Amino acid sequence: DQAKVAQVEQKLGAMPPLVFAGEAQNLRDQLGRVAEGRAFLLQGGDCAESFSEFSANNIRDSFKVLLQMAVVLTFGASLPVVKIGRLAGQFAKPRSAATEVIDGVELPSYRGDMVNGMGFTDKERIPDPKRLLRVYEQSASTLNLLRAFAGGGLADLNKVHSWVADYLRDTPETARFEEMAARIEESMNFMRACGITAETARPLAETDMYTSHEALLLNYEEALTRRDTITEEKGWYATSAHMVWIGDRTRQPDHAHIEYMRGISNPIGLKCGPSLDPDELVRLIETLNPDNIPGRLTLIARMGADKVRTGLPPLLRTVQKSGAKVVWCCDPMHGNTIKASSGYKTRRLDDIMSEVRGFFDAHDEVGTYPGGVHFEMTGQNVTECVGGVVEVTEDRLGDRYHTHCDPRLNGGQALELAFLIADLLKKRRDQGATLGVAV
Ligand code: PEP
Ligand code: CO
Repeated sequence: DQAKVAQVEQKLGAMPPLVFAGEAQNLRDQLGRVAEGRAFLLQGGDCAESFSEFSANNIRDSFKVLLQMAVVLTFGASLPVVKIGRLAGQFAKPRSAATEVIDGVELPSYRGDMVNGMGFTDKERIPDPKRLLRVYEQSASTLNLLRAFAGGGLADLNKVHSWVADYLRDTPETARFEEMAARIEESMNFMRACGITAETARPLAETDMYTSHEALLLNYEEALTRRDTITEEKGWYATSAHMVWIGDRTRQPDHAHIEYMRGISNPIGLKCGPSLDPDELVRLIETLNPDNIPGRLTLIARMGADKVRTGLPPLLRTVQKSGAKVVWCCDPMHGNTIKASSGYKTRRLDDIMSEVRGFFDAHDEVGTYPGGVHFEMTGQNVTECVGGVVEVTEDRLGDRYHTHCDPRLNGGQALELAFLIADLLKKRRDQGATLGVAV
């Protein structure tokens, strides 16, 4: 209903921005340090946020797991970690098929709560433009709570023990985390004795948590794109999130998504799947980052565990040769989705870990910097991905399978992944690996 769409776009266009250009610029600067090999990017959160899973507890628990992962990396690898949530705007999904068939009934596919409903009925699957307004409201509330948590004490390093979710107490991952937390506590006591306290050193008490999502629905993104009237730059900014990315299905050079992203000044991401040709990638980089600003462009490789070792090096080499300054980030989720015998869409933690290892090996081989990870997780104790120390087996997937789209890591699995990455980064550092770009 085009008239309804236009009405909603007009309303959204009059709403206040959710983020401010200066914040997006700060994130771009921080990602610039990642591009130079001096920091690491941690980007994670829901595959698809939903109206029904919206609650303060869910946001708090995802935030806590992200903090735990970040502290494992900061402490384990001695690197500053840039934290970006897939949160406060991640509501639209690209689908492989336009329709879904169940028991001979064919209906339009579910495309995320931003477009239609997940229930398998005619009514739910009709796109409703008003959902864009609800997404805006939910994103505003989510962002507000994230800002409160980040600056209001939950992120205080003195409270590192309180980030552990109840369901993770007494598990091996938590034992490892608690051991590290005790060492952090010791270091904090030492710093306190030296006169460095949360009051005198802000990074100990507060954190920066940025937001991001796939900029799939241009109706929503364009209505929230504003000219910066405050900072010196005066550019155009997507104000729906600090960072937005282009999905693997919408990165055609002459299509609308590239054209939109070319025009905004935010830090942006580009998903790089196995079908991406190296020369096309270089052309895309020239279009998206013509001034070669470090931190502007993050390339999110999602090759699959079986393809990363052969598929990634040619892309790394071509980009390295072009002189483009980019962040290379590993999404070990989207190339590893399988169907369990029970019918559930799932991912094996082993495959996810194997892709991360392959990503690091590929960078070692070429001499570039493995700058970050991008993953789908939740703080809840879900059973969506198989494997893990507290093992989720295929026959238990149905126990707590709540995702609205792809299977997410639960808190324990996410922590396990963080320990693996910290080990890989530490190994790199101990071997005195040369950074991708001279600093
Ligand atoms: C996603 O990140 O949720 C997604 C759909 O990824 P991709 O575009 O890489 O398939
Ligand atoms: Co997904």
